Amino acid sequence: MNDTARVLFVDDEENILKALRRLVSDEDFEVLLAHSGEEGLDVLRTTEEIALIVSDQRMPGLSGVDFLQQARGLAPDAARILLTGYADITATIEAINKGGAHRYISKPWDDRELLLSLREAVRSYRLERENRKLSELVRKQNEELREWNAGLKSRVMEQTASIRGKITELHELNEKLRRTYRDTISAFSNLLELHDRYARNHCGNVASVSVSVARSRGLSDEEREEIRVAALLHDIGTIGVSDTLLHGDVTRMTEAEIHEYRSHSVRGQAAVDSIEALRPAGILIRHHHENFDGSGFPDRLAGTAIPLGARIIAIADALDRMISETPGNDSIGKALDTVRASLGSRFDPELFPLFEEPVCGRYGGQAGDGDTVEVEILPRHLRPGMKIARQVRSGTGLLLLGAGEYLDEGKIVSLIRFFDIDPPQGGVAVLVKKQG
Ligand SMILES: [Fe+2]
Ligand SMILES: [Fe+2]
Repeated sequence: MNDTARVLFVDDEENILKALRRLVSDEDFEVLLAHSGEEGLDVLRTTEEIALIVSDQRMPGLSGVDFLQQARGLAPDAARILLTGYADITATIEAINKGGAHRYISKPWDDRELLLSLREAVRSYRLERENRKLSELVRKQNEELREWNAGLKSRVMEQTASIRGKITELHELNEKLRRTYRDTISAFSNLLELHDRYARNHCGNVASVSVSVARSRGLSDEEREEIRVAALLHDIGTIGVSDTLLHGDVTRMTEAEIHEYRSHSVRGQAAVDSIEALRPAGILIRHHHENFDGSGFPDRLAGTAIPLGARIIAIADALDRMISETPGNDSIGKALDTVRASLGSRFDPELFPLFEEPVCGRYGGQAGDGDTVEVEILPRHLRPGMKIARQVRSGTGLLLLGAGEYLDEGKIVSLIRFFDIDPPQGGVAVLVKKQG
């Protein structure tokens, strides 16, 4: 910043102007001179940043008071001093009162005193200007900050909205993927049951009971899902194994036949291994025929070395086989007794107590109980919460729902679709409460 201060002296007497110029010759001032108020105003109109104006009062034309008054409009920041040769108190008071002059100095003046006054006036002009500049800077920065803040807020809001949109999209995609995954597993499981005409709702039953046991055992959602998938697909390795091998009399099988049958658990694991998400379930599939005492297959694992999910599925698997193969009223009790007799040898004794409740829940309703009656209705009349009385198959024999399953919106929609594309004879048998 240039430190030279621009000062304007206005007087009609040349001598006075010279005296003033001399007085400030050692100061860092740029001196401008005018011989009348009118000339002074011209200087102000054409020159910027004048720090100080010193004007005589008595001049022809504009008086000092009137000149300073007008000068204030042209250079509002400049310090203004009135020189008065007479003890003209009225003019001086008027000048100060109207704000035209900041102070007055009487002629003849004392050089030292006048110089001090001029320096003081210039200094206060500079201070004032500096102050104003800083205030302006602060104001501008505040303004910028405010704009920036407002911009930032709207940018953040925009980005938040776009992120939210993406998250929703991802959720939907995820949900779709999850549905596809579950539908694919169900399709595999259906295929398996279609292949094995004795299997009926075997996989569905094993999955349902196993998941209930896993839940009462306190397993996480993820572990339960693993068990559900493994249970639905546990015998997927039997695809390709002949019917006679699957359901023949084990005592009459040759060594090679037994080996072939037993390979289904390893084949099952191999079948799902290419799908990474199914690998944990694949391990349970591999071990679902291990015995608790180490006499099972394929790896002769024993006790807790057998994965927990595989130990659960093994019991659910055996129970479902026995219940479906034992006709009569007490098939559940008999199956539970048989498994109980093999605790410690084939099955995990600690897990067994968790089975009674889900097994009764799953198979107990199949024969119908006293309060309900079986009715057959068309899919479009089904309501969520209704219990399936007998397994539902499509026209070509694909198992759609097992006995004892409860309907929800999704199952009803899928039944309606199947009844459209592959209609069976008749409707869907459900259990409803007896009226009256
Ligand atoms: Fe099996
Ligand atoms: Fe099985």
